[in-house]
Amino acid sequence: MTEAEIDFEVDPEDLPEISDQPDVPIGGPSLVVDDLHINYRVFGGKKVGAQYGKKSWFTRLVSQSREHVGAVQTVSAIRGVSFVARHGESIGIVGTNGSGKSTLLRAVAGLIPPTKGTVHVSGEPSLLGVNAVLMRELTGERNIMIGGLALGLTPQQVRDRFDEIVDFAGIGDAVYLPMKTYSSGMSARLRFAISSFATPDILMIDEALATGDATFRQKSKARMEVVRSEAGTIFLVSHSLATVKAICTRVLWLHEGNLVMDGPSEVVADAYGRFARSKRLEAKAQRAQRRRRG
Ligand SMILES: Nc1ncnc2c1ncn2[C@@H]1O[C@H](COP(=O)(O)OP(=O)(O)O)[C@@H](O)[C@H]1O
Ligand SMILES: [Mg+2]
Repeated sequence: MTEAEIDFEVDPEDLPEISDQPDVPIGGPSLVVDDLHINYRVFGGKKVGAQYGKKSWFTRLVSQSREHVGAVQTVSAIRGVSFVARHGESIGIVGTNGSGKSTLLRAVAGLIPPTKGTVHVSGEPSLLGVNAVLMRELTGERNIMIGGLALGLTPQQVRDRFDEIVDFAGIGDAVYLPMKTYSSGMSARLRFAISSFATPDILMIDEALATGDATFRQKSKARMEVVRSEAGTIFLVSHSLATVKAICTRVLWLHEGNLVMDGPSEVVADAYGRFARSKRLEAKAQRAQRRRRG
């Protein structure tokens, strides 16, 4: 794990302000995840070249089986995760890279089918990720319309909220330019604006906040509170533990596809912070050892 993966910096504006968190009553379940398993099938591997090297062109030609064209590998990204999320909860998801955070969100959003187990959602989830699909060739304006419709708004509702969305994203007249001309910050802000203004039942944010500056983080935090106060459920994947603690009421810690801890954000974020820190020191010691040897 590199240092860049974990953000131990605490920005003053990210500090938890318990008093400014509106008291949103926690309602009934909005999401039930039951023994969820997600496997990815990866076709072809690094071994292809090596295997070909040992076989004649004729053997390759006549053999049709997969193992000769690169093995099919299975990656178990989520290995039996269960939890219940309720209306009004904002849930942080932490874990090292590759622990399954993005996969879990994609499964909740219905973008990938469970290999085993079930995901029950009440209402329409909306996934807002760094990779959320906005179309780069189209203008911000078109993306607002398409994104809004995809999130279940009517064309009139999108038109009614258009100015507010542009204003929130702070992109001004650039909204009439193709999105490929946007900076990554502008794209991230517009993506957040589109997703959150549809006030979905479940708002999922995958590290999108990292691209925003301090002012935008504040604005998005306020916006998330609106979603939450309208009894939505929020999921936030972030490497900034300070942000997670400031925004979330509860945290899930994923490790190698397993849910290793689920509890109040302070408790889980601190436990994960200690774990991540020790991993970081371990990696540092290993690097030092390699340097001494080499
Ligand atoms: N599209 C994919 N195809 C194959 N493997 C994938 C794919 N996406 C993620 N993985 C693998 O699944 C595991 C979990 O990945 P991911 O959910 O992206 O973790 P995180 O978001 O916590 O970094 C990793 O081992 C990753 O390599
Ligand atoms: Mg991820």
